[in-house]
Amino acid sequence: MVDVERLKKAADEFKMPNSELKNMAEAFRYDIVSGFEQPLASTLRLLPSYTNLPDGFEEGCYLALDFGGTNLRILKIKLMGAGEYEVLSRVEKPLKVEGEYDYIGEGSSGEALWDFVASLIDEANGGDRSVEIKLGHTFSFPTEQTDIYNAKLITWTKEFRTQGVEGEIINDQLKAALERRGMTNVVPVAVINDTVAVLLSAAYENQKTFIGSILATGHNTCYLEDFNGQKAPMIINLESGNFSKIVPNKYDSILDAASQRPSEQRMEKMVSGKYLGELFTIALADALKVEKLVEPFTSVDLSEFILAEKSGAEILKKHTGEDFDAEGVFYARDLAEIVVRRSARIIAASFVGTLSHIMGVGLVIPQQIAIEGTVYAKMPVVREALTEALYDILGGDAARLEIKFITDGGTIGAAIAAAMTD
Ligand code: BGC
Repeated sequence: MVDVERLKKAADEFKMPNSELKNMAEAFRYDIVSGFEQPLASTLRLLPSYTNLPDGFEEGCYLALDFGGTNLRILKIKLMGAGEYEVLSRVEKPLKVEGEYDYIGEGSSGEALWDFVASLIDEANGGDRSVEIKLGHTFSFPTEQTDIYNAKLITWTKEFRTQGVEGEIINDQLKAALERRGMTNVVPVAVINDTVAVLLSAAYENQKTFIGSILATGHNTCYLEDFNGQKAPMIINLESGNFSKIVPNKYDSILDAASQRPSEQRMEKMVSGKYLGELFTIALADALKVEKLVEPFTSVDLSEFILAEKSGAEILKKHTGEDFDAEGVFYARDLAEIVVRRSARIIAASFVGTLSHIMGVGLVIPQQIAIEGTVYAKMPVVREALTEALYDILGGDAARLEIKFITDGGTIGAAIAAAMTD
């Protein structure tokens, strides 16, 4: 029979009391400030986006490419201003289909990847080769930008491995692929991070939005920096998934050591969809005193297990091979929930750190924080835990914040970025 004391002990590893949350928020704020002044003291990257917020009047027809998660999405969009838009066509395909193709795994090449992307852009644009159309590109990885077009991939994250893209100007590679297909009428004009896209698309409708965030396969946040009025405001991509001033528990350390890039993206490895299932798997295996589970949990499995009312024991049996009684299921679910709750609490603390940099510690101006992503949308526990943690840190002032769930931000934002170059 399963030892529930070991399950409780594993769950304790993921507790994050209010004092720790507040310390993390302060450490996060410190890393934003020091990121500008002494970059080596900061674990945030603070990447300039060369984009301000939209004024909401952007109009016209654009192609929008959203690249960076499991699915590639291309939309042809007509922006009509005042937050209004119409989707004219939509093409969506995974970057990897087991047994069929894989553009992101070990043996994949940049050229093949961009040729695939170009073929889907072609489909979204109805094969047209004559009308010039601008393309906005949401590229959800850390890039070093020198302007809105030129973005060099610093490093893959989320376990992407395609060869020949790191260190390259990604829009040049896309452009070359478009040329290979004779699609010279499609003109890439802007590259933005997905957090920036979410912020643009939310601010297109509601000007009181200064922070954009993603909680999906990966995690990251951006915000509008006003440089104290010394320079024009610009959205800064924090690459907050790389924040590493949170004390890892023993399961975080095991996961990190086994990952493609140990010691990088430490916060992302504690919060995002790529890793939550794995974290639970490692913790549960430890509680059961086994080296591996029969079948590891993905984040989707984790979400199903938390939601399952009656079939908890069955799900656990399938993944662990062990029999759980009602008490065992209860504490295993408790462990699953706390893995997710900690994710939301960490993200809330990073929001508060960002807010206190923007507004000054203790000052919360009413606003919405825009967030998009499958984990935020679908994972149980996340929404309540995020709101609860904001109250734990800010007290009643948290009521001035609205967490706004965005859909299609990656693509709408890309179209807005393209329009903003006009
Ligand atoms: C990337 C970020 C991205 C985030 C969400 C992270 O792995 O480094 O650039 O915004 O995932 O997609």
